[in-house]
Amino acid sequence: MGLFITFEGSEGSGKTTQIKKAGEYLKRKNISFLITEEPGGTRLGNELRKILLNKSSLHINGKSELLLFAAARAQHVEEIIRPTLEDGKVVLCDRYSDATIAYQSFGRGLDIDDVRWINNFATRFLTPDLTLLFDIPVDIGLKRAMKRISRIVDLPVEDRFESEEIEFHKRVREGYHALIKSDPERFRTIDASRGIDDIHRDVCRYLDSIIGT
Ligand code: TYD
Repeated sequence: MGLFITFEGSEGSGKTTQIKKAGEYLKRKNISFLITEEPGGTRLGNELRKILLNKSSLHINGKSELLLFAAARAQHVEEIIRPTLEDGKVVLCDRYSDATIAYQSFGRGLDIDDVRWINNFATRFLTPDLTLLFDIPVDIGLKRAMKRISRIVDLPVEDRFESEEIEFHKRVREGYHALIKSDPERFRTIDASRGIDDIHRDVCRYLDSIIGT
């Protein structure tokens, strides 16, 4: 069996940049790996991703949203993640079940036991060997995420996001913190408010410690 490593964090935490750099690092070490993402990773997953990330006109309710993320994940696990692990490779996955607990349960308020049950059903209990949590205060993360999509000048975050949205992201971050507490063995928390290279150094250290090089 290979190793299953997930990258988690709230908006603007820079995990997508870091997963690419982690891949480059493994390549330099001649370790076979696959980078994949959720929602996505399969043809069905990519179609569901389009729906989930442009959902405003569809009025998707919380339960339906949960089931769509779970549908994408079920396909992803069976079609891509499990076979790649069975091939002995390292799988680096940008978001996984923890995101559903943080966003759909802590963020949107769905019952945590329901969300866990759905996650377990979708994944048949496939749990990451290691989860890197890129932790960043909500105001810094949202500012970064905003800069990525537009060139709006430096307004304070409260002037650009509805307070409801800021509160949502605060709950998501609390959700991740609660997850770390419930499974400290699996999680490594990385301070993502620092520069790219400092963060990458931590990522390499954690990869080395689990890969055993
Ligand atoms: P993405 O463009 O991948 O954003 P990011 O770079 O922040 O990961 O979009 C994924 C979005 O979907 C992100 O807002 C988190 C959300 N999401 C959930 O709400 N639940 C989930 O189970 C997953 C996997 C993602």
